Amino acid sequence: MLMMIFACDLNGVIGKNGDLPWRQSTDLQFFKKTTLGKTVVMGRKTWDSLPFPLPGRRNIVISRSNRDDVEVMSIEEVRGLAKTDDLFVIGGGEIYSIFIEESNVIYRTIIDSKIEDGDTFAPEINPEDFSLESEEIVKAGENDDFDMKFQKWIRN
Ligand SMILES: NC(=O)c1ccc[n+]([C@@H]2O[C@H](COP(=O)([O-])OP(=O)(O)OC[C@H]3O[C@@H](n4cnc5c(N)ncnc54)[C@H](OP(=O)(O)O)[C@@H]3O)[C@@H](O)[C@H]2O)c1
Repeated sequence: MLMMIFACDLNGVIGKNGDLPWRQSTDLQFFKKTTLGKTVVMGRKTWDSLPFPLPGRRNIVISRSNRDDVEVMSIEEVRGLAKTDDLFVIGGGEIYSIFIEESNVIYRTIIDSKIEDGDTFAPEINPEDFSLESEEIVKAGENDDFDMKFQKWIRN
């Protein structure tokens, strides 16, 4: 099964200059809790933005080039693996847009901000395809730039 997890601002921005455009510790904790022990799938540019592999998770990178520092797969290989394993698609923009049609569950955090000059965007969640199962508003903690809203969407 494919699941997806991302954080976006009020305009759908998820990235800027190859990185996350906010400091949002509460969301990072949610991301860690949700994905720990699972397999995470990411595009090569998101992989390049990480200082090291995400610990406690099988890290798979989608790229057109092979590399020796991480497990690399094609889109088709990830589709094949999703038939037997639970996979979390963790970005970035190119990879979300490829897999949204095939995802069963989406965890979306809406960051209560409007980032200027964002260059990478979240996929649209079509309400004909997904239903909102839960939603929780959380005020910014001391290590968060903004308030946020945690949503869980399930395929209809
Ligand atoms: N807010 C969030 O939740 C969140 C989460 C993750 C990432 N981000 C942000 O998103 C940005 C990165 O996203 P991005 O869209 O620029 O890049 P990306 O989706 O992370 O990676 C793009 C790369 O994936 C590979 N790829 C794409 N389509 C492919 C295909 N059909 N077959 C094989 N490989 C394919 C290519 O790698 P090669 O060039 O190696 O072939 C491509 O350059 C960063 O700013 C990051 O911080 C935000």
